[in-house]
Amino acid sequence: MAGDTGNIKVKIDNVRKVFNGRNGEMIALNGVSLDIKENEFVCVVGPSGCGKSTLLNIIAGLEELTSGKVYVDGKEVQGPGTERGVVFQQYALFPWLTVRKNVEFGLKLKGLKQEEVGKIADKYIKMVDLEEFANSYPKELSGGMKQRVAIARAYAVNPEVLLMDEPFGALDAQTRTQLQSELLDTWEKERKTCFFITHDVDEAIILAQRVVIMSARPGRVKEIVDIDIPYPRTQETKMTKKFLELKNYIWSQVYQEYLEVRK
Ligand SMILES: Nc1ncnc2c1ncn2[C@@H]1O[C@H](COP(=O)(O)OP(=O)(O)OP(=O)(O)O)[C@@H](O)[C@H]1O
Ligand SMILES: [Mg+2]
Repeated sequence: MAGDTGNIKVKIDNVRKVFNGRNGEMIALNGVSLDIKENEFVCVVGPSGCGKSTLLNIIAGLEELTSGKVYVDGKEVQGPGTERGVVFQQYALFPWLTVRKNVEFGLKLKGLKQEEVGKIADKYIKMVDLEEFANSYPKELSGGMKQRVAIARAYAVNPEVLLMDEPFGALDAQTRTQLQSELLDTWEKERKTCFFITHDVDEAIILAQRVVIMSARPGRVKEIVDIDIPYPRTQETKMTKKFLELKNYIWSQVYQEYLEVRK
């Protein structure tokens, strides 16, 4: 019932995912439940292979779940939708389109006029600092540049929910810091619901209102940590006592799970 979900934007209800791989059944997710509120910024951390990308792909409607349900605005997810924008872990660009055409792609799907499409594409290509490469093709770009195109493309369509899978993972430290700041600015202005996966605990704390720690495979929600640091957050925030306490705590929890994987 819609009334029951209140201001919950994304509801993940007891999701289980079993892959039938070469070595038989593999339980990737087991009983994952999480409510993400409207306007909330949630980061997800956990050891490699714990099912973070699988969960994101299920929310995106790109991967089928084995059991359980995912709802967006109280409606069950049964496939992809334009209200959910995705930045994949492996930048998924159209190789036959230029940077500009890649960014414009979703805008055209939305039926915007060419003049507006061009203006919005300009804004986001500038945001990721790729004006000089607007007419280049993906194969002419470095990994980090491709990822910046993927980010521009996701932001440009202005989705209600942003699903981001380690979007800054392939970037150098300076670009990464720059894009974290841009994302924080954008989020403070527009307050989109964000589901953001990262390996970087600093990044999770600087961005999120809540950090979800996942357990080693089969992935479950191990713990949810409230990040009670007010916004705006800046690079200086990373030097505060509160930040360092949270960092130590979350890092040790993730490390425990990492050790589980190695057992
Ligand atoms: N299409 C698939 N077929 C079979 N197994 C899969 C498939 N996709 C993922 N898996 C398995 O599911 C588990 C979870 O994978 P997933 O990519 O979700 O992990 P992750 O937490 O995103 O890891 P990383 O941090 O390394 O990106 C892994 O053991 C992986 O091998
Ligand atoms: Mg992943």
